[in-house]
Amino acid sequence: MNTYARLPVAFTHGQGTLLFDEAGQQYLDALSGIAVSTLGHNHPKLVAAISRQAAKVLHTSNIYRIPLQEELAARIADISGMDEVFFCNSGLEANEAAIKLARFYGHKKKNVDLPSIIVMEHAFHGRSLATLSATANRKTQAGFEPLVSGFVRVPFGDIDAVRQIASRSRDVVAVMLEVLQGEGGVLTADDEYLRTLRALCDEHGWLLICDEVQCGTGRTGKWFGWQHSGAKPDIMTLAKGLASGVPIGACAVSGPAAGLFQPGNHGSTFGGNPLACAAALTTLDVITSENLMDNARHIGETLRAGFAKALEGVDGVTDIRGRGLMIGIELGRPCGELVTRALEAGLLINVTSGNVIRLLPALIFSESDAKALIEGLAPLIRDFLSQ
Ligand SMILES: Cc1ncc(COP(=O)(O)O)c(C=O)c1O
Repeated sequence: MNTYARLPVAFTHGQGTLLFDEAGQQYLDALSGIAVSTLGHNHPKLVAAISRQAAKVLHTSNIYRIPLQEELAARIADISGMDEVFFCNSGLEANEAAIKLARFYGHKKKNVDLPSIIVMEHAFHGRSLATLSATANRKTQAGFEPLVSGFVRVPFGDIDAVRQIASRSRDVVAVMLEVLQGEGGVLTADDEYLRTLRALCDEHGWLLICDEVQCGTGRTGKWFGWQHSGAKPDIMTLAKGLASGVPIGACAVSGPAAGLFQPGNHGSTFGGNPLACAAALTTLDVITSENLMDNARHIGETLRAGFAKALEGVDGVTDIRGRGLMIGIELGRPCGELVTRALEAGLLINVTSGNVIRLLPALIFSESDAKALIEGLAPLIRDFLSQ
């Protein structure tokens, strides 16, 4: 189907932070398949782990025990402090599980007939009916009405708006947000806001749901974006970078959200199969053994500072922001055409929210990659803004 406005390029292979097209042209990948290729392309340990597992068994079924899935759940629990994990195959599925769980909690624990979830402006949670209803973008929703009910929207970062809902609604059971919004324009929630949100959730018996699909798995310099504030969620969703390119999703829960689902309440055929779990375990191992979270922090700062310097005094650059290797350069006008100009210059970048250049390089991005990206992209931004 004609579901994507695709760029006119096809890649045949990759190596580290580089991709190569059919004509042999080389590209510096500052997008990693939209925050997916955590370890870059062709990481030898990931290739070996996937090959080894493929030679053993790809898939069994969730009607049997899957030791690699148990190991991955324990590993996620260990790095997050969560208690239980459900595995699926994508971000939207992880969020569907979170939404279902919040409703289930509302019915079972709070005796609410029509549970509702507070969601944020600029949010993106996926494209299934429930997750596009939780998403803020009208374009994502248009044509798919009726939307799923049970979501109340508030401005991102506005704690008073949440308090007002708390004072007038008895149906709220959860608050769901990305602590660092990706599609919405690389917007970071203030740490104090998150801690107050956590306190409000505790006060009212609401679940705090953090969608870590884009900002999780080490990208911001910590395993999960919420760890910068210490505001631990009751439900955390993961996907994208968790298995560095092999499809996987996860919905991890703790405290009041744990122990709710019983056999028959939820499921997935492929979710957490041996291949995906082997890839995820290796991704997490390599993030640790190669200090990739330190690298994400360091290279992220290098990129933000480097772009700030290279674009100093340039009219039309309104902000350079983000955390770790989730970076936004906001311009004063729509800049979608920069994606094609960058592609022609051998750079893979993205523009979101119309006017925000989004950079999501692999966690292995090096100093020299950062230098090449700044030297390649800053002149394109200058040229674009001077026209
Ligand atoms: C924060 C967030 N949540 C959910 C999703 C949906 O993930 P998927 O495309 O794997 O369904 C995305 C995708 O961009 C995302 O950025």
